[in-house]
Amino acid sequence: MLTVGPKGTNDILPGEIEKWHYIEKTVREICREYGYSEIRTPVFEHTELFLRGVGDTTDVVEKEMYTFEDKGKRSISLRPEQTAAVVRAYVEHKLYAQPQPFKVFYIGPMFRYANVQAGRYRQFHQFGVEVLGSKDPAVDAEVITMAMDFYGRLGLRGLELHINSVGCPKCRPVHRQRLHDFLNPNLHKLCGLCQSRFSRNPMRILDCKVGKCQELSKDAPTTTDCLCEECAADFEKVKKYLDDVGVQYVVNNRLVRGLDYYTNTAFEIMASDIGAQSSIGGGGRYDGLIEEVGGPPTPGIGFALGTERIIAAMERQGLEIPAERRSDVFIATLGEQAREEAFKLLYVFRRAGLSAEMDFMGRGLKAQMKYAHKFNSRYTLILGEEELAKGTAVVRDMIAGTQQDVSLGDLLAHLTIDINQ
Ligand code: HAM
Repeated sequence: MLTVGPKGTNDILPGEIEKWHYIEKTVREICREYGYSEIRTPVFEHTELFLRGVGDTTDVVEKEMYTFEDKGKRSISLRPEQTAAVVRAYVEHKLYAQPQPFKVFYIGPMFRYANVQAGRYRQFHQFGVEVLGSKDPAVDAEVITMAMDFYGRLGLRGLELHINSVGCPKCRPVHRQRLHDFLNPNLHKLCGLCQSRFSRNPMRILDCKVGKCQELSKDAPTTTDCLCEECAADFEKVKKYLDDVGVQYVVNNRLVRGLDYYTNTAFEIMASDIGAQSSIGGGGRYDGLIEEVGGPPTPGIGFALGTERIIAAMERQGLEIPAERRSDVFIATLGEQAREEAFKLLYVFRRAGLSAEMDFMGRGLKAQMKYAHKFNSRYTLILGEEELAKGTAVVRDMIAGTQQDVSLGDLLAHLTIDINQ
């Protein structure tokens, strides 16, 4: 057990981390352009927050939370998602007193005790955004557009955006009643889970993946059938804004999402080519959540995208991630005196902002050159007895394949100029 990490967790190794950096860099770029600031909240919270916020009848809270009692006998849970935590921070720090809307993004690990399979892990990562304080449908469209823009920047193609409106506390009871009336005669034929959902949260039956439930609920009233005038108008507005910027979507009125806090707009993005776990992102409005956790009535909307699934989709689509150069300079040496000189040069180069490496494994010169090549270094310096005697080093340009002697004192200027070209 000591040599294997817990099930459903992954090590992100050098070679793989470059993809994460690339994604995170793209996150920061797009968030700056759309006006979102970063927020970092703790990895664990009081369990109560998720029970109240995410919903105690959801799979995520009921079955998948990492919950434990700490030494002070408090019930603590690792965050299964970050929306509730952002809302908690918003209320705790009275951020509603600042100019609204409050727009933030986050990147970080989430924890769900899920059945592990490709694309479904117990520690996974999300990039998410939340906008608190505005009920304007233009914000819904901004958030959705931003998610699609983000995927597009990574080069992902062929994604399907599904949108729906799940209504507000005014339309919900109407839908609930109509669903009850529709499903009641066949209640005993639904799967066990849907039978229990019938009284607790019947809307989720529309989302069941079991064949007979899908068949029985095929013609069931959908959320959009029961929207009040205001919700229907808002949904039309969201669609219009998306049309105006050319974001393509499918209205899927069976989309209800797995977390309890959603109201009005709900959306999910699917990548058909990453296997069973095809949802690479999702989100929606949660206009009741802020009040639910003790804040003033405040609307909110956001999304979260799964980084592991984004990477899987990028790999499936053969997308190249721009290679990060590992090192600007590698100093290959011959002899002890050259090594000492190289050690001093490393320090000078690094202080000047270059990434610089030398051999620490006692390799011969040829093996050092091979290693430098594998290391993807921009320049290789060769320093032997002969060069030391002349006060020079051989500078090999690894791209051009050329080399020249440069005096030790001029090295930095030479390399800096070239590297910045
Ligand atoms: P969610 O749909 O539960 O929404 O998760 C969002 C995304 O996280 C999924 O689409 C998927 O890509 C990824 N994901 C979820 N579970 C796993 C897992 N076990 N392994 C790998 N990836 C996973 C939320 O979390 C909401 N907080 C989104 C939101 C923000 N709604 C409003 N604001």
